[in-house]
Amino acid sequence: MTASLSTAATEKGRYFGTAVRIDQIEASPRLRQAVLNDCGFLTPEIHMKWNALQPARDHWTPGPADGLVRFAQANELRVRGHALLWHNSTPHWAEDEIVRERNWNTVGRYIEAVAGRYRDHVEEWDVVNEPIDADGSTDGLRDNVFMRSYGSSYIARALEAAHAAAPKARLAINDYSFEYDNSTEQVRRTAFLKLLERLKTAGTPLDAVGLQAHLDLSKGPLKPEILKPFLAEIAGMGLDIAITELDVNEHDRRLSLRERDARVADEVRRYLDIVLDEPKVKGVTTWGLSDEHSWLQPTGAKGAALNRGLPYDAVLEPKPMHRAIHASLLA
Ligand code: G3I
Repeated sequence: MTASLSTAATEKGRYFGTAVRIDQIEASPRLRQAVLNDCGFLTPEIHMKWNALQPARDHWTPGPADGLVRFAQANELRVRGHALLWHNSTPHWAEDEIVRERNWNTVGRYIEAVAGRYRDHVEEWDVVNEPIDADGSTDGLRDNVFMRSYGSSYIARALEAAHAAAPKARLAINDYSFEYDNSTEQVRRTAFLKLLERLKTAGTPLDAVGLQAHLDLSKGPLKPEILKPFLAEIAGMGLDIAITELDVNEHDRRLSLRERDARVADEVRRYLDIVLDEPKVKGVTTWGLSDEHSWLQPTGAKGAALNRGLPYDAVLEPKPMHRAIHASLLA
């Protein structure tokens, strides 16, 4: 029996979870078993995105999201909702309507409906996903349909709307590329901290931040002197921190499987040892459990061509990354 990551996390007052799709759980008994063995929290990988829930204005498709929530309830697992607003999952009909009408109705109605529907089931929501863009846009905020129609206030308005619809849910902003020592990620860290500061100063209902943590072996060493002060600044604002989408992009797949798995595990161990030193980091979620389902797979890849950046390989055998997470959670 593989050691349980959830049990290890719980022992230290944290949680461990993963992103999943209900159709994948139903299709694979081994994935189901791994989810139940390792997880205390689930994030729907796609089912709670706007284009998945409401592909057309008068057509709602909550079946998969409801199915995942039922699976979680039946197995006493908690749910992180992902994500109310994300530029990449806003359906075209909604973008058109937002641009055409320029009032808050489209977004307001959507948040009320979805945060309201899952108010008793989703414990923490990624309310705004990926609002930061380092490419010289206003205040480091991404130039998306929400910015263009409402200005930067869309973030606070979304948080207020989510809070009104689901007053008990914890509300988060989730974003990526804060881990490494390069100028792009430095600009992103600074922009993110400024955004959080503005929201907290204004008294916006924001409880937590999600750090995606898509690690990348081509980006150089992870440095405690970069990451720790960043986490400390977030913690200093009274915000909790969730590691929300942990995985590793290998890039170079020429070494032996053994060496590759060791490099992935070392990167994860190094990252988690740094971030779990911060008490405000409340939990860790990987973006999938098995390499078979990873978004990082090159199209059509099989065998050794698969990226090996998740805790289990494509046939659900645990890899050194699993042992690394377990050890870091207990350290
Ligand atoms: O289900 C359809 C299928 O019917 C169709 O044949 C196929 C053709 O492309 O598409 C399938 O839908 C895809 C879906 O994943 C399920 O596989 C979508 O095109 C594809 O866009 C979608 O990708 C997801 C992506 O977010 C966009 O929603 C990835 O699985 C998911 O891992 C990824 O997750 C994001 C986080 O939400 C935010 N952070 C980055 C992370 C990785 O991109």
